[in-house]
Amino acid sequence: MQRCGTVAVVDLSGKVVVITGGARGLGAAAAQAVVDGGGRVLITDVLEAEGAETAAKLGEAARFVRHDVTSESDWQAALEYALAEFGRLDGLVNNAGISTGQFLEQESVEHFRQVVEINLVGVFIGMKTAIPLLRTNGGGSIVNISSAAGLTGLALTAGYGASKWGVRGLSKIGAVELAESRIRVNSVHPGMTLTPMTAPVGIRSGEGNYPGAPMGRVGSPEEIAAAVAFLLSDAAGYMTGAELAVDGGWTAGLTVKYLTGQ
Ligand SMILES: NC(=O)c1ccc[n+]([C@@H]2O[C@H](COP(=O)([O-])OP(=O)(O)OC[C@H]3O[C@@H](n4cnc5c(N)ncnc54)[C@H](O)[C@@H]3O)[C@@H](O)[C@H]2O)c1
Repeated sequence: MQRCGTVAVVDLSGKVVVITGGARGLGAAAAQAVVDGGGRVLITDVLEAEGAETAAKLGEAARFVRHDVTSESDWQAALEYALAEFGRLDGLVNNAGISTGQFLEQESVEHFRQVVEINLVGVFIGMKTAIPLLRTNGGGSIVNISSAAGLTGLALTAGYGASKWGVRGLSKIGAVELAESRIRVNSVHPGMTLTPMTAPVGIRSGEGNYPGAPMGRVGSPEEIAAAVAFLLSDAAGYMTGAELAVDGGWTAGLTVKYLTGQ
């Protein structure tokens, strides 16, 4: 098996993948994994300068287009652009998202709606728009980025957690409805991973710096991207409706250290 940096390369040769929110963070790492695997990628984001720069670094196998995931017309235009540039569509990674940090009681209705609109409604519109193209292609893979907060109840995530549970559910519905069309739909549930989204929380990478997870450290974007690339690939050909926790054991349960405080 080939390796790139610290992560094994998954074979994605010939595949064309659209990744939302790919200008930076987990989406940019997933785009890198697609290109490392021999695929081509359309990065979309509302961050135009960062998105264009990320795509340029990936070279000829990558493109960028501005795209707000809450807009149906933007979705149509983005997927048409992918087809025009690359001629096919094999995969969609619904990665774009925003996070929230309020107690339920203090969360404003306006902010709750905004988070759900981007994190959940955006995924729904993306799936709905991509399905006919993937069907024409003879099948494909949709990978929806949920969160550990979509597997458990996490404090301070009223809108975020609700949206991520929704993404997990929507993925199951897609899996059962689309299996006949050879379209696989799975969700990925990252634990705490160092990106521009989480940097303000003050987490640090490195062993022992994150006692909240049994593995004692936060994840790297490349480790999440490896799971995404696997689900996009034919190696995951019998997987649909799965929820893949990539969280250092965070949602698996509690450690003895945590239980005894020692
Ligand atoms: N970093 C973590 O610890 C972590 C953990 C669990 C889940 N996640 C999820 O992973 C995904 C990526 O997060 P990240 O950590 O890379 O965060 P990030 O903030 O670095 O990246 C998210 C990207 O989404 C884009 N985006 C936001 N709103 C958009 C919109 N309306 N249309 C298009 N793009 C939009 C942002 O511009 C940004 O580039 C998110 O869905 C997030 O909820 C992250």
